[in-house]
Amino acid sequence: KEAVPTIVVIFGGTGDLTKRKLLPAFYNLFLAGWLPEEFAIIGLGRSAFTDEKYRAHLQEGLTEFSRTGEPKADIWDSFNQKITYLQSDIQDAGAYKKLGDKLDALDQAWGLRANRLFYLSVAPQFIEAVTVNLHEAGLANEVEKDHLIVEKPFGKDLESARHLNKLLTQHFQESQIFRIDHYLGKETVQNILAFRFANALFEPLWNRNYIDFVQISVMEQVGVEDRGGYYEGAGALRDMIQNHLLQLMCMVAMEPPVSFEAEEIRNRKADVLRAIRPLTHEQVTRYAVRGQYGPGWLQGKQVPGYREEPGVDAQSNTETYAAVKFYLDNWRWQGVPFYLRTGKRMQEKTSTITVQFRPVPHSTFSNKLSENLLPNRLTINIQPQMDIRLRFTAKRPGLEMELTPAEMVFDYDTCSTQTPEAYETLLLDALQGDATLFMRSDQVEAAWEVITPVLETWESRPSLEFPNYSAGMWGPENAEALIAREGHTWAVSN
Ligand code: BG6
Repeated sequence: KEAVPTIVVIFGGTGDLTKRKLLPAFYNLFLAGWLPEEFAIIGLGRSAFTDEKYRAHLQEGLTEFSRTGEPKADIWDSFNQKITYLQSDIQDAGAYKKLGDKLDALDQAWGLRANRLFYLSVAPQFIEAVTVNLHEAGLANEVEKDHLIVEKPFGKDLESARHLNKLLTQHFQESQIFRIDHYLGKETVQNILAFRFANALFEPLWNRNYIDFVQISVMEQVGVEDRGGYYEGAGALRDMIQNHLLQLMCMVAMEPPVSFEAEEIRNRKADVLRAIRPLTHEQVTRYAVRGQYGPGWLQGKQVPGYREEPGVDAQSNTETYAAVKFYLDNWRWQGVPFYLRTGKRMQEKTSTITVQFRPVPHSTFSNKLSENLLPNRLTINIQPQMDIRLRFTAKRPGLEMELTPAEMVFDYDTCSTQTPEAYETLLLDALQGDATLFMRSDQVEAAWEVITPVLETWESRPSLEFPNYSAGMWGPENAEALIAREGHTWAVSN
């Protein structure tokens, strides 16, 4: 699909996300020829920048964060002409008048009414002001042409998410709203759909009869960095499980869609969230484990504990690690545990989905030989390693019968093209008006509903054990117990 003439307006234009992710993504789309000739970016922020200074600020970001590195001078020169800056207070209606004038001027110069994409990269408390002001100034009134991208966090619990959805849909049509979850834009995550539904081999096995359990691990090596202020009010459950991990679970567990239409795919994913068995408060202690990192060693360097990080309370009860076991009440997945876990300050950065198949029903081989007979396992490595591996058992070549695990691998490194960043995929989709990879209001609310009992239980009972894992470990010890109860182990563990 062609991208049509578009003006992108970034609220939070001087923020970190714009510099690190959004601008590099637009620039790389430009490099690859995806942007239309008539294209403009207007950054909004409170700081006093001239257009020139703003462009220089973004150029620095490109050099530091873009996968294509420092931009070539001539290409950057032609791209940066598309960028302008508008100093503004987003809570002031007057700013929207000025913005409107800028938008109109571009439309006039181009001789058409361009599409408008409003990117809300602002703290949650400003979303209301931007939404109401945009609506009142009539800047996003053309339902087919005008869209809003809303960044996370999308609420902080079910009630606030509902409030936010109500607010947005009071002023705009649902079809105009793109709620972003950047995990869905990752190449390896999108490939789950191709892997599952473009191959006849796995789908017949993709159910309770053949699959023993599923693990979804998103382990990060970084700590909270300079985001202590935000993270204190969030924690791992809100920050990662409510959105990214549950979305990954939907991709693994969804029923085959009839078509690749946005609503069809989003319906099938919403079905998964609706099928998750609600936890009672009593069950939370058996189904969920929380952790917080203490000081430790990572890559030969001593790093501070969470409670010593800037912006963090010295007695903080915020979890930096969460593991939860879910069951799905539907035909396909009845009785199959889905273990989700995520943590900061882990030994390594690794995001992985592990689908473990049931053991063979009877071993033909002697007990000794059977020691090496491991169940089949499919590993989808999302990042930083990007591959899909299928473990199977083979005969070790030689004169005797000996068994050995072997692997079939699809490695993304063997594909010649550079892998686009998640934001490139998602922004291009947004420019093309394709909502497939964005979250619908019901999906967001269903995901909050799923984690509510855990949130409530953890908040009402501060942990007495924190910190309960050292930086550089794979999480707290009782996370091992959570999964060991069914005789399972984590794919990577202490
Ligand atoms: C963000 C979280 O949504 O995802 C961060 O707020 C986290 O805490 C980040 O570090 C992880 O994203 P990625 O793409 O680096 O895995």
